[in-house]
Amino acid sequence: MERIKITGGRVLEGRIRPAAAKNSVLPLLAASLLCSRPCVLRGVPRLSDVDASLALLRAVGAGPVRRGPDILLPPAAVCGHVPPELAGAMRGSVFYLAPLLVRAGTVELPLPGGCRLGPRPIDIHLAGLGAMGAEISESESAVTLRRQGSLHGVDFTLRLPSVGATLTLLMAAACARGETVLRGAACEPEIADTAAFLRMAGAQIEGAGTPVIRVRGAAGPLPGGGVHLPLPDRIAAATYAAAVALAGGRIAVEHCRPGHLAPFLRFLRTAGCEITAGPDGFTAARDPDIPLWGGADLCTGAWPEFATDTAPLAAAVLLCARGESHIHDALFQNRFACAEGFAAMGALVRADGRDLWIGGDAQLHAACVTAPDLRGGAALVLAALAAGGTGTVMDSGHIRRGYQDLPAELTTLGARCTYVKTMSDATMKTASAMQMR
Ligand code: EPZ
Repeated sequence: MERIKITGGRVLEGRIRPAAAKNSVLPLLAASLLCSRPCVLRGVPRLSDVDASLALLRAVGAGPVRRGPDILLPPAAVCGHVPPELAGAMRGSVFYLAPLLVRAGTVELPLPGGCRLGPRPIDIHLAGLGAMGAEISESESAVTLRRQGSLHGVDFTLRLPSVGATLTLLMAAACARGETVLRGAACEPEIADTAAFLRMAGAQIEGAGTPVIRVRGAAGPLPGGGVHLPLPDRIAAATYAAAVALAGGRIAVEHCRPGHLAPFLRFLRTAGCEITAGPDGFTAARDPDIPLWGGADLCTGAWPEFATDTAPLAAAVLLCARGESHIHDALFQNRFACAEGFAAMGALVRADGRDLWIGGDAQLHAACVTAPDLRGGAALVLAALAAGGTGTVMDSGHIRRGYQDLPAELTTLGARCTYVKTMSDATMKTASAMQMR
């Protein structure tokens, strides 16, 4: 268990550049298996989900190599067996269904892990792959797919705009025989990013980023490869903007696309922050002597609606804002597990499934809280920036799944925030070192 120590009350100042987006990098690493020539992903952050993806690639026979911020992905013959401990480590393991089915002809995937946000079925992934000709068998703990010959194109409507399912079916369609039309596809920016990567490798894709995507399949692996710079992480950018909303000050978030987090920036403006957007980034500012305005009633949804991953960040901002607020998450049933930590810091909150009610006007105080998931954990760190005293967020690894070093990133902006080795960690390290002698 790691411990993050945060001393609140410090105004933020400076500039920061979000790393490549976790939710782009994870599908891109899987999609590299479809390429017949070497690929390079540039500027990939050191996230635990990335490490898990590299381990999964190696476990199936691929040979990714990290060279500083870049990851080299040579073509490789792969098998379709994904070790359970790797599949269960993250939701991102679901992205290997299509590539392994295409390359190995069969894939056995233990059910994916990831944030406990509620049920996270993969029925749409499987329905689409089945419509393309995959033979599917499911057990309690795993799903196995096989194909006889190439997958074939299909005109398929997703029953809801699932990001993951859209990516799965895009990858499968790129290598299927014939044309595929995906209707009701997700439109998140990460979809277009993966499509751009696949097109670089020779895929013929039109309409990525819109609800209707047309693909002319290659009837096998893609002929090419290449170098790709993934999208900047729009959720990390939102995290930094929320930090200055809570702590006060002025920061510049550079090399990102404000349009990719437009609903969140609009929310911050309404709450009283000064947001100035440019073509390649934005500044966010708030006078710490002027209260934030609450009274928000937010509802998340698929792109271009308010992003579900920013809901806990918005909740943290609203804890101290003037007036009662409400957030509804239409995508996940358990998005607000962080409410318990907010309450421990003195906030007036009530979570009930998809809904969070916030009393507002809180005078937050330091507390020892626990990160329940990735974005909820980040939201607790942010709330501690606005709390009096020095608080702690205990984290079993959730936050490192999506941020390379969130405390260090906030510290570059003037926060006092750091990972501290818990005595048990330090003791264990010493003990094991002594045993080695
Ligand atoms: C991706 O998850 C992201 N994860 C999530 O980010 C993000 O919150 C989510 O998209 C929505 O934007 C990764 O990219 C690794 P979905 P994903 O499929 O693909 C239901 C983070 O914090 N559904 O769009 O799993 C599902 O239960 C993470 O970085 C089905 O019913 O999201 C959910 O209610 C959290 N059947 C809704 O769709 C399916 O086959 C949206 O899920 C698939 C999904």
